[in-house]
Amino acid sequence: MGDQTVHALQGVDLEIGSNELVAFIGASGSGKSTMMSIIGCLDRPSNGEVWLNGSEVARMSDDELARVRNRDIGFVFQSFHLLPRMTALDNVAQPLVYRGIAPGARRAMALRALERVGLEARMHHRPNELSGGQRQRVAIARALVGAPALLLADEPTGNLDSATARDILALIREVHAAGQTVVLVTHEPEIAAQCQRVVRLQDGRIVSDTGAKAAAGAGAR
Ligand SMILES: Nc1ncnc2c1ncn2[C@@H]1O[C@H](COP(=O)(O)OP(=O)(O)O)[C@@H](O)[C@H]1O
Ligand SMILES: [Mg+2]
Repeated sequence: MGDQTVHALQGVDLEIGSNELVAFIGASGSGKSTMMSIIGCLDRPSNGEVWLNGSEVARMSDDELARVRNRDIGFVFQSFHLLPRMTALDNVAQPLVYRGIAPGARRAMALRALERVGLEARMHHRPNELSGGQRQRVAIARALVGAPALLLADEPTGNLDSATARDILALIREVHAAGQTVVLVTHEPEIAAQCQRVVRLQDGRIVSDTGAKAAAGAGAR
């Protein structure tokens, strides 16, 4: 920034195994969102390596990278990021458009994803006709519709009241229990306490990492 160099992350070394449920915690500015952007291939580190499903991200072509982002990563944000003019169903189906899936099949897949988050009755509603918790359910359905390897959620409950936050966390835990790998950011200790593994960041460094799976290759660092 200007003539100041900000090290958003420094010396970070982390391995996340399939079907882990990992929470990143840490103060504002500690590097949590930067970490998520790098894991999600939205951003590239100026140094170091990122490997996803056995491939080094820096070696991927632009096409491969676009495909990985669309197929292997599902992102959920604090402020939902739904398209306001589209119905819940169309929002959820949106990522499938770029895969060349026919409209009928897209609708069927989106409907199944909405059923999974308990919102099929609201499929024709637009985001402004839904509560915050319902919007986040739609966003989760959209993130999951293409069965990504990894679900990333950056403060998914940050804009929700505590009861709704608990429901959303319960949903995320259900998705994890069904086999999904999940990484989420939270600064709520009650939420972190319900995650298997908790990684704490401070000034761009990992200062603790507890509860990683012990199995080889499953994030035992
Ligand atoms: N685009 C940017 N340009 C300059 N500094 C940035 C940028 N994005 C984030 N930072 C800085 O990087 C650090 C980590 O930010 P971030 O990953 O957003 O933290 P968190 O999500 O934990 O609040 C902070 O010091 C922040 O100010
Ligand atoms: Mg952040």
